[in-house]
Amino acid sequence: MSDTSQSPKPALLEVGGLSKTFFARRIFGSSRPVVAVEDVQFAVHRGEAVALVGESGSGKSTIARILLRLEHPDCGRVLLDGQDVLALEPKRASLSYRRRVQMVFQDPFGSLNRTHDVAHHLVRPLLRHGRATKADVDDRAIDLLRTVGLEPAEEFISRRPYELSGGQRQRVAIARALAVDPDLLIADEPTSMLDVSIRMDILTLLTRLKTERRLAMLLITHDLASARYLADRVLVLFRGRIVEGGPTDELVESPAHPYTRALLASIADEGELGTSTDHVDSELEDEQSRGCPFAPRCPDAMDVCWKTDPSYRKLGARRVRCHLYPESGSDPSANADRKE
Ligand SMILES: Nc1ncnc2c1ncn2[C@@H]1O[C@H](COP(=O)(O)OP(=O)(O)OP(=O)(O)O)[C@@H](O)[C@H]1O
Ligand SMILES: [Mg+2]
Repeated sequence: MSDTSQSPKPALLEVGGLSKTFFARRIFGSSRPVVAVEDVQFAVHRGEAVALVGESGSGKSTIARILLRLEHPDCGRVLLDGQDVLALEPKRASLSYRRRVQMVFQDPFGSLNRTHDVAHHLVRPLLRHGRATKADVDDRAIDLLRTVGLEPAEEFISRRPYELSGGQRQRVAIARALAVDPDLLIADEPTSMLDVSIRMDILTLLTRLKTERRLAMLLITHDLASARYLADRVLVLFRGRIVEGGPTDELVESPAHPYTRALLASIADEGELGTSTDHVDSELEDEQSRGCPFAPRCPDAMDVCWKTDPSYRKLGARRVRCHLYPESGSDPSANADRKE
């Protein structure tokens, strides 16, 4: 898996300075701010898969929702092929942007309409986005099912979602996303509701699509093992911020941030494609305003960690937000590289 962060080609997707705070209402008293995303910056190139990995509540889906324009960030920018996505008019964005950026959700059953057959789910986007004519739309739908490995396609096309297995439903959801020939596929926990034996099949399918179609992918997962399988680069999120990011092999083989190490240890505990990192108990954390937010859980916490929030440091092709590593000094590329 190669690191393309140094690629001279402009990125397909560039995200910078993205922040989002929610105000969670309390029954009594004032609302409490929840920083869901904080100063997130990364890029995804064509034909590249980037994984956003983090435990529950780390802000993964909020980032996805911002990218899909379902949520507006407090600040930051999202550029698709250099175009400022957040400035697009809503209507224009909804059709042309939706064509370019497609989503696959965690729950394929919930995202498919149980009253309609598979054909309906594929024919609609094909026609709506001008990807087929009425004359060839059935053939195109069959082609899509073959692309995602649902054979015999002629049989699957007339089935309804409840007549499919979970893995087959997820393949239909992927086929629907592919119908509009997107540039970027955002997959939010696409395998976490599937049987372990089927997860690998779906990840293999996504890997093939990435290579064959030069699809850019953003894989959102709490499972570092899935990320390792599919992604060229991994960004580790903790409390809405990227604490470590870099080429997958490097990050998995020698994790730098103590949180990345904890995630990897949880895979070792639960087997290759184990899913949960939630046993890293977030209740143990204190509200910490000045220091590193990970300090209360960090086995390596030093005095400075309680007092000062660490900046990003460069470690080769990686960047890590941790006091364990020397500061990058005045090297301006330290921030530039935050585009990952
Ligand atoms: N509409 C909202 N109003 C208030 N708080 C919200 C809202 N949406 C998300 N949050 C909070 O923002 C934080 C990040 O949520 P998000 O759904 O992005 O996490 P996640 O990493 O996708 O978690 P999971 O793995 O459980 O899906 C959480 O603390 C969540 O409670
Ligand atoms: Mg989520």
